[in-house]
Amino acid sequence: MSFDLAARLAARRAENLYRQRPLLESPQGPEVVVDGQPLLAFCNNDYLGLANHPQVIEAWRAGAARWGVGGGASHLVIGHSGPHHALEEALADLTGRPRALLFTTGYMANLGAVTALVGQGDTVLEDRLNHASLLDAGLLSGARFNRYLHNDAESLAKRLEKATGNTLVVTDGVFSMDGDIADLPALAREAKAKGAWLMVDDAHGFGPLGAHGAGIVEHFGLSMEDVPVLVGTLGKAFGTAGAFVAGSDDLIESLIQFARPYIYTTSQPPALACATLKSLELLRSEHWRREHLKVLIAQFRKGAEQIGLELMDSATPIQPIMIGDAGRAVRFSQMLRERGLMVTAIRPPTVPTGSARLRVTLTAAHSEAQVQLLLEGLADCVQQLGAASNHA
Ligand SMILES: Cc1ncc(COP(=O)(O)O)c(C=O)c1O
Repeated sequence: MSFDLAARLAARRAENLYRQRPLLESPQGPEVVVDGQPLLAFCNNDYLGLANHPQVIEAWRAGAARWGVGGGASHLVIGHSGPHHALEEALADLTGRPRALLFTTGYMANLGAVTALVGQGDTVLEDRLNHASLLDAGLLSGARFNRYLHNDAESLAKRLEKATGNTLVVTDGVFSMDGDIADLPALAREAKAKGAWLMVDDAHGFGPLGAHGAGIVEHFGLSMEDVPVLVGTLGKAFGTAGAFVAGSDDLIESLIQFARPYIYTTSQPPALACATLKSLELLRSEHWRREHLKVLIAQFRKGAEQIGLELMDSATPIQPIMIGDAGRAVRFSQMLRERGLMVTAIRPPTVPTGSARLRVTLTAAHSEAQVQLLLEGLADCVQQLGAASNHA
């Protein structure tokens, strides 16, 4: 018996699925330096352009001066400090729910919420295109695990018929690799009809969606009865790091008691919570960021369609270009890079086989001129490579 890691790695390379980490040598923003090369980037999730905002940086600095750097202990020991608590209250206010609970990452919030709510004898039903952290959470929970067709309330209804025990329906709000929006009103209706709970991970909706940036639930005007468990992450439009679950007092108390990824980990640095408090204020009040994003999204979609690119059904800042073959997606991405543009190729297993894509993301920090440069670069690549998509 041996671990033949070299063979595994070689196979991954042969399939064009080998992953590498580009080395970022600048702060996040449209103009970055990667592996020594200045590039115009369209691939981060800093949708509102807050990750490098001077006021957020200043809040972080002041927070560190006042509270120190480390969280020091878990929340239940002595790591739950004033800024964490204030941020939870501000997030509860943003979501219009009685309480919110801060987690160190979105991955942990999802693991924590699902495993605290369902276990053996229960059922968890997930959209088949849910984020990996949600799928992992469902599997880890020990509940009966089933996936319904993407964004298909009828397919969910059929699975709900067979569900046993406490049943949790779980979906991304904005699908992270497709950019489309979950049909929450329909999903909520089906879940409620069967006494199931709906959990929404709106990692990519908070910020861009909703009149005040409160995401997909605000966008559809849904209540806590429709969506009892609401997850948001702070490393995307909030521009910082961490995550939260928002809901009823009983939900949050249950997570404090039973969510192992909440209990058995050190709290995030309090200064980070200070920075997020500031970015939350900007997210809520600076509507121009959402408005500007809308303009860029329309500009990009119009231009990309003119070039003949296959876009997905997305009205959000996630604007993937479907390519199909993984090798072709990598070549496309490399050609863009030779033209000073950075757009990541997303390949299986992150997306289904045969649906590799270029995941373009737009942010409020981009200008219309920069989006035009992207469109020109894409047009040039299409000319060289031929029609972009070859997927079935
Ligand atoms: C939909 C979704 N949920 C959760 C996560 C995980 O969040 P975090 O990066 O904070 O772990 C991500 C991506 O990172 C995501 O896209």
